[in-house]
Amino acid sequence: MFLSKLALQNTTKSVVRTQVRRAGDKAFHINTSYNNQTTHFDFTPENYKRVKALLQKYPDNYKQAAMIPLLDLAQRQYGGWLPLAAMNKVAQVCEVAPVRVYEVASFYTMFHRTPVGTYFLQVCGTTPCMICGSEEIMATIQDELGIKNGETTADGMFSLLEVECLGACANAPMLQMNDDYYECLTPQSVRDLLQACRDNKDISQQAIPMGKWGSLPMNGQVSCEGPLGKTSLDTIEPPKFDRSKFDAGDVDPASVKKHMSY
Ligand code: FES
Repeated sequence: MFLSKLALQNTTKSVVRTQVRRAGDKAFHINTSYNNQTTHFDFTPENYKRVKALLQKYPDNYKQAAMIPLLDLAQRQYGGWLPLAAMNKVAQVCEVAPVRVYEVASFYTMFHRTPVGTYFLQVCGTTPCMICGSEEIMATIQDELGIKNGETTADGMFSLLEVECLGACANAPMLQMNDDYYECLTPQSVRDLLQACRDNKDISQQAIPMGKWGSLPMNGQVSCEGPLGKTSLDTIEPPKFDRSKFDAGDVDPASVKKHMSY
């Protein structure tokens, strides 16, 4: 059955007007002085080497398979967000229509089509984190920074967004700040984290070092343990780290950030 013309128009309007839960992002593009058809973007020579390496992972006729890592690369190069020109450049590299890239960039919350703060805080609000106090964490951040969900501080330092499960439920409540996870949060540890950002301290050099996978339980745990510590598989020796497994070009966990050019 076909939608009537009026119903179709109404449907189209409601889709176009939907505001997605992103830091200042809307589901559609609005030209601004810093992001319009004349804004320039191109990969740096250094990043063109990475573009080449990414494309080599896929057959020549499936260049679009590299779209997400290319968007990620473009976003990192442009300071944490994707102007229209960057998405168009990715479309050109992938040899697809620009709209195919817009669809991907507007779907995944890891991509930002408007500028975000230096520290982008994504607080998980899904059930396990909510039960363990994510609402208090969110309220603490809002109080500390004077911004609400989806906003950026006036100095451009922090953006805040509530998101769905980030896959660290065992150490709830948690938040993701840029590329790293901060877990087992309390209102006080969140205040400490924000203060460390304001003081421009290297968070990874705190009393509890950031784990090799970029995950930091803030309560002194070293992995995904419950409040009683490790209660299962605790008599089984964990497998030894075997570096030779990574000789064939796989990524050594300890160097994953370097590999991803973080
Ligand atoms: S529910 Fe918060 S990380 Fe999964």
